[in-house]
Amino acid sequence: MSTQTQVWTASVATLFPDMFPGPLGHSLAGKALADGRWRLATVNIRDFATDRHRTVDDTPFGGGASMVMKPDVVDAAVAAARAQCPDAPCVYLSPRGRLLDQARVRELAAGPGVVILCGRYEGVDERVIEARGLEEVSIGDFVLSGGEPAALVLIDACVRLLSGVVGNEESLAEESFAEGLLEYPLYTRPQEWNGRAVPEILISGHHEKVRAWRHDQMEKITRERRPDLWDRYAARKAGRA
Ligand code: ADE
Repeated sequence: MSTQTQVWTASVATLFPDMFPGPLGHSLAGKALADGRWRLATVNIRDFATDRHRTVDDTPFGGGASMVMKPDVVDAAVAAARAQCPDAPCVYLSPRGRLLDQARVRELAAGPGVVILCGRYEGVDERVIEARGLEEVSIGDFVLSGGEPAALVLIDACVRLLSGVVGNEESLAEESFAEGLLEYPLYTRPQEWNGRAVPEILISGHHEKVRAWRHDQMEKITRERRPDLWDRYAARKAGRA
């Protein structure tokens, strides 16, 4: 079967399958899930434990306070998650990973789906990451208590890019990061609120001037708030000139 006819699938290996779909069962993602525009599969890592206590973790070699998820158990769970979407990239969510950005989200959304391993405790045995060639991905420079909230973030970011999920697809072209810039400020009625007026240009009806103003705002906001994004944008722009 080609990827065209298969629905985009998120397959998640987790110790807490009840956390899914969670917030993804609501709003746009939830409607799209109910409509069959994407599919969610969960695998309970504990089902792959082999002892009668259903042990999934053990103490770290070399010592340390935290427990480590066992490679044999995790590997079997990842294999089961992969079986749900065999051609999709396998991601291990961890604060050590490469920072997730909109470019990677776009790539994942354009493919058959994503297989996700959620860690708990201190992490998973390094050998299973190596053996399975897992792509380590972080959603930010902070530490969560487990990969599950990060998985929800990653899946949400992908699903909203799938065809037919966001009603107005034009809004996708204009949102933050579409051009490597942050979005311009938005206003709606009333025209004056608590002594604050909407910028004059936006009520001028002059579409070209509005477009230019918005673009200036995008550049200004990006320059002020995110010098890292600004440098990349400026380099790309210079390369094009
Ligand atoms: N697990 C714990 N912290 C994380 C983070 N920042 N990103 C992805 N997965 C995580």
